[in-house]
Amino acid sequence: MWKASAPSNIALIKYMGKESGGENVAVNPSLSMTLDAFRTQVEIEKIGEEGPDRWRQLANTDPLRASSTTRFVNFFTKLKIEQGISGAFEIRSGNNFPSDAGLASSASSFAALTLAAYEAFSSLASRPLPSKAEMALKSRTGSGSSCRSFFGPWCAWEGKSIGAVESGLPPLVDLVAVMDGGFKKVSSSDAHRRVQSSPLFEGRVDRAQKRMREITGALSEGHFQKVAEISWAELWDMHSLFHTAEPPFFYFAPETISVLRWCENFWEKNGRGPIATIDAGPNVHFLVPESATEEYRRELESLPGLRVMESRA
Ligand code: PMV
Repeated sequence: MWKASAPSNIALIKYMGKESGGENVAVNPSLSMTLDAFRTQVEIEKIGEEGPDRWRQLANTDPLRASSTTRFVNFFTKLKIEQGISGAFEIRSGNNFPSDAGLASSASSFAALTLAAYEAFSSLASRPLPSKAEMALKSRTGSGSSCRSFFGPWCAWEGKSIGAVESGLPPLVDLVAVMDGGFKKVSSSDAHRRVQSSPLFEGRVDRAQKRMREITGALSEGHFQKVAEISWAELWDMHSLFHTAEPPFFYFAPETISVLRWCENFWEKNGRGPIATIDAGPNVHFLVPESATEEYRRELESLPGLRVMESRA
C-alpha cells in the first residue's frame, strides 16, 4: 500500500481562466500560500491484475460528491496507463477538514493523489520518483490549483514553471471566516469558462501579470501592507469578472460583505489589518501574522453568522 498527504493552498493572485485543450493551462500567473492544516490523505492499494480502479472513502472522513470521485479515479487511471502500469487499484482518500466548509479540496486531493500514484508506480516499476516540479506539472492536468500545493509556504505558478517563492514576511496564519452560501454553487471549472464572456476579461492577463510582479517584490521585501493591497485589488478583480460575465453569477453571502466591510474599517482605524482574499465561494480568508492570531480571531468571532477555521502555512 502507498500513502501520501498534501496541503491545500490559498491564492492571492488568482488562477482564473484557462486555455482550451483540457490540460488546465492557466491564462495568467498565480501565487499562493500553502495551508498545512487543511490536508488530504490518499492511500493506494493494488487489488487485482485487471478490472476497473475504484474509490473508497478513508475511515472517519467526510463523504465527497460522486462527481468529484469519478474525476479523481479517472485521473488516476489515465496516469496509470500513461506510465505503463497494469493492474486494478483501490484509491482511498479523505480530508482532515469538513467538506461542507466550502474550502477548496481539489488542490489538496489531486496533489496527494499524484504523489501517492507516483510512489506506487515507482515502486512497482522499480524506477526513481520524478522531481517535485514534474509531479506538480502532472497534478496540474487533474486540477490546476493543485500544482501549487507541491511548494510552500509560498508558491508561484506561471505556464510550465512552478516553484517556491522567497518571502520576508513573518509566519502567517490563515483565519477563514466560513459562512453558509445557501445557494447553488458554480464550480470553479464553470467559472474558468464563464469569466471569458465578461467585458472585463480583456486586459485581465495584463492586470494579473502586473500584480504578480508587484506582489513577488513586496513579499521578498516583507512589505505586509503592500501584499494586502495587491490581494485586495485582486479579490475584487476576480469577483468582478464573475459579476459581469454573461450571464452574471456571484458567490457572496450577506456575511461576506459584512466581513469585508469589517476588514476595510479595521485597516482605516488601525493603519494595519489582515491580508484578505476570497476563492470561488462565500468564505473570506484572512492571512494575519501568527503573533496577532488571537486578537483577529476574537474580532472575527464577534461578527454574526460565521465560524472561524484556522491553518498555518
Ligand atoms: O484548480 P481549480 O480549477 O479548482 O481553480 C481554482 C480557482 C480559484 O480557486 C478560484 C483561484 C486559485 O488560483 O486557486
